[in-house]
Amino acid sequence: MAISKENTRPESMVRITTPELAQAFIDEQIEAVRSQVGDGKVLLALSGGVDSSVCAALISKAIGRNLICVHVNHGLLRKGEPEQVCEVFGKEFDAELIYVDAVDRFLDKLAGVDEPERKRKIIGAEFIDVFAEEAKKLEGVEFLGQGTIYPDILESDGVKAHHNVGGLPEDLNFQLVEPVKFLYKDEVRVVGKQLGLPDNMVYRQPFPGPGLGVRCVGAITRDRLEALREADAIVREEIGKMEQVPWQYFCAIPDFQSTGIKDGKRYMGWAVVIRAVNTVDAVTASVPEIPFEMLCRMRDRIIETVPGVNRVLWDISEKPVATIEWE
Ligand code: XMP
Repeated sequence: MAISKENTRPESMVRITTPELAQAFIDEQIEAVRSQVGDGKVLLALSGGVDSSVCAALISKAIGRNLICVHVNHGLLRKGEPEQVCEVFGKEFDAELIYVDAVDRFLDKLAGVDEPERKRKIIGAEFIDVFAEEAKKLEGVEFLGQGTIYPDILESDGVKAHHNVGGLPEDLNFQLVEPVKFLYKDEVRVVGKQLGLPDNMVYRQPFPGPGLGVRCVGAITRDRLEALREADAIVREEIGKMEQVPWQYFCAIPDFQSTGIKDGKRYMGWAVVIRAVNTVDAVTASVPEIPFEMLCRMRDRIIETVPGVNRVLWDISEKPVATIEWE
């Protein structure tokens, strides 16, 4: 499908590779947002991912508290993420932040659902419902900020679009504000850094929209989800120390138990899976070497500190034939 002229990156646009170029881009976009929005209010769904965070930071520099960010905690975020979004956007940037604790709502809807695409649809649809409910409570909002980036436009039938569902209900009739829509991912990161966002936000690895929901294999239970979140934090911390950090690295937790032994007694526990991959386009993926010492350290930390887990596995499957995510 051909891309419309207004969605085509201007040929004259230089690639943003330095802080100076990033600053020039920021100044230009601040002016552009101000002239588009005037005194109007902009609503933005802030996940904490690099695209929505950079978009939010830019719009907040332009219009301050006329930017209203909504952060929906659906219970499937990684350890520390909701807290970081609230810290950065509630305190360091001058934006209005609405934090919605929707954990019970999502987990109740997902209870007993084990089919991956059905889980994705429930998470996507519920997210839109929660966001739309928040939007309807607000008055005088005409604009919707979106962290669309150029690959989203170019690959509108790519992997991400294939997995993601939904859109906003039509009765929410917003004009879009998309200040980073002509940027490639590496440029978004340079701009984010220049805007003063923390490194672990700017250099974040890709994280699927349905979050830990597709890594807590089968029907999600709260205790297994919690074990996944804790083990995942350990794996991200340890693998994050590698000199060449893999493209994506995380944990999954299958929905079966196996035998363990503690104090001479046998018991059933979960197995946690370490997954790390390198890829260019997520269509194929290879598995980087992880030092054995690091694997053992992750194993020990997980077994010692994560309740219910008695086994740690390393997934060395490549894509194809395995997908990157477990679901
Ligand atoms: P797979 O598992 O298909 O993943 O090899 C390829 C890339 O896509 C990400 N992924 C998703 N991203 N919503 C997203 O936004 C999703 O439902 C989804 N499922 C997979 C995955 O993390 C990997 O980077």
